[in-house]
Amino acid sequence: MATLGVNIDHVATVRQARKTIEPDPVWAAALAELGGADVITVHLREDRRHIQDRDVRVLKQTVQVKLNLEMAAEQSITDFALEVLPQQVTLVPEKRQEVTTEGGLDVIGNLERVRRCVDQLHGAGIIVSLFIDPAENQIEATKSLGCAAVELHTGRYADAANPVKQAEELDHLRRAGRFALECGVHLHFGHGLTYRNVQPVAAIPGAEELNIGHSIVGRAIMVGFTEAVREMRQLIVTAK
Ligand code: PXP
Repeated sequence: MATLGVNIDHVATVRQARKTIEPDPVWAAALAELGGADVITVHLREDRRHIQDRDVRVLKQTVQVKLNLEMAAEQSITDFALEVLPQQVTLVPEKRQEVTTEGGLDVIGNLERVRRCVDQLHGAGIIVSLFIDPAENQIEATKSLGCAAVELHTGRYADAANPVKQAEELDHLRRAGRFALECGVHLHFGHGLTYRNVQPVAAIPGAEELNIGHSIVGRAIMVGFTEAVREMRQLIVTAK
């Protein structure tokens, strides 16, 4: 059964809209744990648009499940990760102008830069996952760097214009997932997953971790954080 990583970035987005102290993503993490979150995920962006350094430091001390830090393969953020030591880092591509992470990391095109970052993180005992498009050559490159996991980008599945296209994208994810397992890497998925589209992805054989943010935070505004996480987790547990 897949585990649920709750991405709490957008709690910080609301706080940063006023540059105040509330709502605190640290509170959201605690409530997410009460709702059954298996992983707490935050993305420390170079522009610090939502999560701040302080959030990651406090979360490292307070989160009792796995803390997964999403970050770009840049030296300044790597130095920060080496100081805070989250259990897992997921490397993502990052462009300043984007609204959210667009597309997976091009591991092949940035092999040496990614390798430098991955080697330092491994040296500190951090589990490294690479957020990539569901493509065999990117999975092979991830494996060649010794990374423990891939997070396959589910954006094309989530954004598919009609059920036929969505079925095609799901098949793509299934095939890439099978290949990742054959390569011996752990299989994570994320991006654009919602209460409506999560179950077919959760049911992919070998799916181990799903990272979900926007949809959960959106529902949390209506029903509360713990309940929103509980409902998502229930969908994952019952997926077949
Ligand atoms: N996984 C990764 C690597 C991401 O960058 C994001 C977005 O920050 C997510 C998962 C969560 O995406 P969403 O907010 O669409 O659920």
